[in-house]
Amino acid sequence: MLSRRQFLAALAASAVVGACSDSDGDGSAFPGRRSTSTTGPLPRLDGPAFTLGVASGDPRPDSVILWTRLAPDPVHGGGMPDADLPVVWEVGRDERIRDVVASGVATASPRHAHSVHVDATGLEPARTYWYRFRVGEEESPVGRTRTAPEDDATPERLRFAFASCSHWQDGYWTAYPHLAEEDLDLVVFLGDYIYEGDPNPAKVRQHNSPRVRTLEGYRNRYGLYKGDAGLQAVHAAFPWVSVWDDHEVANDYGGDTEPLGTPPDEFLRRRAGAYQAWYEHMPVRLEAPRGPDYRMYRSVPYGRLAAFHLLDERQYRDPLACDASIGTLCEEAEDPARTMLGEDQERWLAERLDRSGATWDVLANSVVLSKTAIPIGGQDIFNLDQWDGYPPARQRMLDLLAEREDGNAVVVTGDLHASGVGDLLADFEDERSRAIATEFLGTSISSEFDEDYLDIAERAVRQAPWVQFFEARHRGYVHCEVTPDALRSDYRFVASVDQPESTIGTASSWVVEAGNPGAQEA
Ligand SMILES: [Fe+2]
Repeated sequence: MLSRRQFLAALAASAVVGACSDSDGDGSAFPGRRSTSTTGPLPRLDGPAFTLGVASGDPRPDSVILWTRLAPDPVHGGGMPDADLPVVWEVGRDERIRDVVASGVATASPRHAHSVHVDATGLEPARTYWYRFRVGEEESPVGRTRTAPEDDATPERLRFAFASCSHWQDGYWTAYPHLAEEDLDLVVFLGDYIYEGDPNPAKVRQHNSPRVRTLEGYRNRYGLYKGDAGLQAVHAAFPWVSVWDDHEVANDYGGDTEPLGTPPDEFLRRRAGAYQAWYEHMPVRLEAPRGPDYRMYRSVPYGRLAAFHLLDERQYRDPLACDASIGTLCEEAEDPARTMLGEDQERWLAERLDRSGATWDVLANSVVLSKTAIPIGGQDIFNLDQWDGYPPARQRMLDLLAEREDGNAVVVTGDLHASGVGDLLADFEDERSRAIATEFLGTSISSEFDEDYLDIAERAVRQAPWVQFFEARHRGYVHCEVTPDALRSDYRFVASVDQPESTIGTASSWVVEAGNPGAQEA
């Protein structure tokens, strides 16, 4: 609770800032450098406010979402007073933000863990900007971002990287400082940004609490993860477009059900807290959730060159079939009523692809879409948490991609903690059917691929002629360059995640030509 003095100070500060906002005519929201009275006095914070850095995301031709969170003590509830605080933001055309083009005052509220999502509008298309925040006298680090090209523009090239699966305990995030140094328009994150599990003393670093199940627990877990300097550097370097996978809530969950058997009403309460904490920590162009139902799926177009379709493969899916996450396919899995995306999202995606004027439609897809049968003891075993556990839903997805004759669909995938390149066949039950699109599977930032499964994974790949490349021993990310003629993927692997720093190198490169689905080694 605030003292009376702190409360009055906060009130006064909000009133003063609210009144002047960015309306002082010179375009600067940081007039405190000339007149320190503008945003003060504020309640004294028990430490630096911007411990979790800054971020931007979901760019449009004229705007981008800017994010920060005030959190002097991010792993213990944030350490903020229980009051709304004004946060000044500004965007400039130069690194030192002298040439300010947009500014304003946002409110950091305890309702959303003092996170701030600003829609910075009035920007020019396909342009780099720098931004920062200020609370009281404290300035945030400067972030860099970039707007999308105009809707009818065809840029010569677009560069993005995609990444997923950053388990705090499995390894150091040695890829992130290298990712921050790339020359990119944006980063696509495919989920498992946090992991919800218990501490494990055998690992290189430990979680800060037992398995998280509450809003407060998830917030503290994001507080831990987002304290990583390399991750902060990547957020500060590029706009991100992000989806979630399972570990932002609970392992292998589907809809209102998780394999550990939590009753649905209790699980939905947990899901509501998890989705809220995800929103509070990600630079997403979304309203805050108001409960367990939360539309996250959306598209981010990049002119006529590319469109990113960001999919939710957890909230609407049917729970695991066949009572197992790994097993043989039972009759239940073949039920055409079973869904991965849910009816509404399936319809939405069909419409988006139909209306897309983009040369490249990039689907941000959390779990592997290609068929991957694992031959064990004369039987085909599947990872039933992947699309393999939803064969009719997968066929509907493949039919949708096959229909897009004048477009080029590329599916970028996370979850498996391994790298791969494969043709998506029109019908995986007919090995001779044509390739209709390409799936690029990106390895994890740090999450391990269990060495015990290496052998069977490699065996599975050998009996899948549509898979052209597979590698499970390395961590890293995938760098993509998109032009009107081709999409090239470079698999960037770090040497190690056992030490805080590592070298990085390109291990494998693949190209898809426009109009010719299926990848070729570059
Ligand atoms: Fe993962």
